[in-house]
Amino acid sequence: MNRTLTTDEAALAAPSFISEAASKAEPIAVPSVLFVDQSGQLGGAEFSLLPLAVRWTAHREVLLLSDGPFRQRLESMQVKVHLTLEASVSKINKEALHLNWFFALPGILRQVRAIARHARQFDILFLNTQKALVLGALGKPLHRKKIIWHLHDIMTREHFGFFQRLIVKWITRYAVDHIVANSRASAVSLVDLIKCPPESVPVVHNGVDVDEFSRTDGEDAGTIRQLLGLPDEVHLIGLFGRLAPWKGQHIALEALALLPDMHLVLVGSALFGEQAYVESLRRQATRLGVEQRLHFAGFRDDMPAWMKAVDVILHTSTEPEPFGRVIIEGMAAGRPVIAAAAGGVVEIVRHRKNGWLVPPGNPATLADAIETLRAAPELARRLADQALLDVQQHFSLDAYVARMTDAIIRVAC
Ligand code: UDP
Ligand code: GLC
Repeated sequence: MNRTLTTDEAALAAPSFISEAASKAEPIAVPSVLFVDQSGQLGGAEFSLLPLAVRWTAHREVLLLSDGPFRQRLESMQVKVHLTLEASVSKINKEALHLNWFFALPGILRQVRAIARHARQFDILFLNTQKALVLGALGKPLHRKKIIWHLHDIMTREHFGFFQRLIVKWITRYAVDHIVANSRASAVSLVDLIKCPPESVPVVHNGVDVDEFSRTDGEDAGTIRQLLGLPDEVHLIGLFGRLAPWKGQHIALEALALLPDMHLVLVGSALFGEQAYVESLRRQATRLGVEQRLHFAGFRDDMPAWMKAVDVILHTSTEPEPFGRVIIEGMAAGRPVIAAAAGGVVEIVRHRKNGWLVPPGNPATLADAIETLRAAPELARRLADQALLDVQQHFSLDAYVARMTDAIIRVAC
């Protein structure tokens, strides 16, 4: 099942482990991998899995526990997808975990067996989400494959209930061979939970294809402003990402009410059924009298163009953000970013150096920061220029894929 890389391929891939071995002229076995993800939607965890699955040089497939645009995206990039669907298991969410899991037990057992059966054809099981972790790891006695878990969450009490934290604690202790966290914030939360040495949860920050973001030219930005019915001179604020209460779009709306001549565009949709929140945002806009200056763009596939069309990019999560891909994307798009200082965000943004940090959940401070950057365009430009350099240096897609490849190959050995 393994595929051996040529020395040239190894040098190109260049993770340290491969290149060490390549320099000793040893054949390097790239293991076959089954990537497992619970979502059919295009969220950050799925966008971080996508390039890894696309670029994996040995046999690989992605097993999804729900169908949706993520499957189409993978297939359009020639990645084979296997679906294992169980409606009762899909309904389990972290809020309702204690109520639903008992009734879903037969479905859970079927999915555990189905994943295990499929995993037998691969060397490694790469689990990308919480449900994938639980279902993939419970089947370990059946598939006996090495397991790597990519942690995308902050595992504190504020984010997860007692029961889910308990399951994660036992599973990681007894069934997971290796963990990679998307930020130090996520890693520290897991170390606290499972009481393991910090070095057993290494961190690999997400990466972004900087060229993809710098390629878009000003013409696209003009088209997007036309689409919104906005003249070029309007100061446009952008908030990118799914619409969900903890992503704090309501905080941005309150800030907008304090900035009378600006417009705000929300790019993204409610991916996981947060329709009531979207309605509450519309009501809030009416209440605040900002509905004429608020634009819902929906989910967009051309994020670079939309990011380049705005003057400043906000990140407004009210809870600590595990990482925040939209922040590095905004930096790669060459726009100044104002972000909520908590979680993995402070590993990316350095206040007044490559962006602007504000306390989470504080509309007045957010409005001040937006006003400050508008009043000082040179400062805003300087921050954005430094941000672009920082992304190129610390958050490149190539480095991300290389580090993740390195981690997976180490597990196989
Ligand atoms: N995204 C997108 N189109 C949209 C909104 C978001 O492609 O309309 C992408 C965005 O570019 C980013 C991801 O969705 O790569 C969101 O990831 P992030 O880590 O910021 O947040 P998550 O939703 O995973 O918590
Ligand atoms: C999760 C987190 C987000 C992170 C993404 C990629 O979806 O909520 O903060 O950027 O994973 O690691």
